Amino acid sequence: MLVGGFGTRLQPLTLSTPKQMLPIIDRPMIERVLGSLNAHGVTDAVLALGYRPDAFLDAYPDGHCAGVELHYAVESEPLDTAGAVRFAALSGGIDDTFIVVNGDVLTDLDLTELWNFHKGHDAEGTIALTPVDDPSRYGVVPTADDGRVLEFVEKPAPGTAPTNWINAGTYILEASVLDRIADGRRVSIERETFPAMVAERSLYALHSDAYWIDAGTPVTYLDSQLDLIDGVRGSAERAVHETATILQGAVIDHSVVMAGVVVESGAVIRNSVLLPGSRIGADAHVLHSVIGAGAEVGAGSEVLDYTVVGNSRDVPAGVRLEGARVPEGS
Ligand code: GDD
Ligand code: MG
Repeated sequence: MLVGGFGTRLQPLTLSTPKQMLPIIDRPMIERVLGSLNAHGVTDAVLALGYRPDAFLDAYPDGHCAGVELHYAVESEPLDTAGAVRFAALSGGIDDTFIVVNGDVLTDLDLTELWNFHKGHDAEGTIALTPVDDPSRYGVVPTADDGRVLEFVEKPAPGTAPTNWINAGTYILEASVLDRIADGRRVSIERETFPAMVAERSLYALHSDAYWIDAGTPVTYLDSQLDLIDGVRGSAERAVHETATILQGAVIDHSVVMAGVVVESGAVIRNSVLLPGSRIGADAHVLHSVIGAGAEVGAGSEVLDYTVVGNSRDVPAGVRLEGARVPEGS
């Protein structure tokens, strides 16, 4: 599992917490991803760690998470996606067919079907594909009728993508893929390894319409949680934690309110996520925004349009923020 990136698009939240340790409603993202893998029989995972590895080690000191036994591979410098796969696979002793997942993807993909498709096609690698409206921020993957990958185009310029089916960030790979990856330097699986496999006709892909979201941006970090309380992925999850305090006259509409949050009277929270221990002052409005753990929004302030307030940061009373980062420039 690739979990070593800097989480730049989710700064400032990721300045203190790595992306995959950010909460999705009631538990860290990584627990949901590992739980989905475990449901398909995965018992062991090597975490490809780089940025803030201690956050993972501290959270799972006995090396178990969501039914999966964890092994840790910590890069001394970022090796990029393929370099990280090679380093983690070798340190985990992998010498047979294995699964790679991007740790920021929440999906109901049928991993067992992907595995069987891979074996059935005698492929060296198989990628899960998902359809998206705007493919330009993903790896775009046109295929032949039998599923063979014709091209792998990472993050094409807007309007130039040959299809809207994109790399869903879940792969089944043969151990031979590891021999393709240079040792000890940065290698991108999307820009280097997959294009080389395409040229040798050994890369396949399976189209899937299952629920899928990459929770790595403010918009998708928010949407991934609203989908869960809306019941888009099964029975609706509880939106407001039992330990949150909502004072009389406050309005909570289509939002996730995590443990220990306090929302004072007259405040309005819509389409937003309030992380644990955050506090919203009287008459403040929080719309389409994310408030970090322990952060405080002052009375009467308006926090709007995908503003992200960092953990333990404060928004003064009476200000208006639109699409802002707090602190600024983070
Ligand atoms: N260990 C380690 N080392 N992990 C890394 C490194 C690294 O140097 N760089 C990135 N990662 C991890 C990230 O933490 C994340 O879990 C995963 O690799 C993918 O990186 P992102 O930064 O989230 O990539 P992306 O979302 O822009 O694009 C990737 O995912 C898309 C699907 O969500 C690509 O694989 C695209 O092709 C794909 O469509
Ligand atoms: Mg991502």
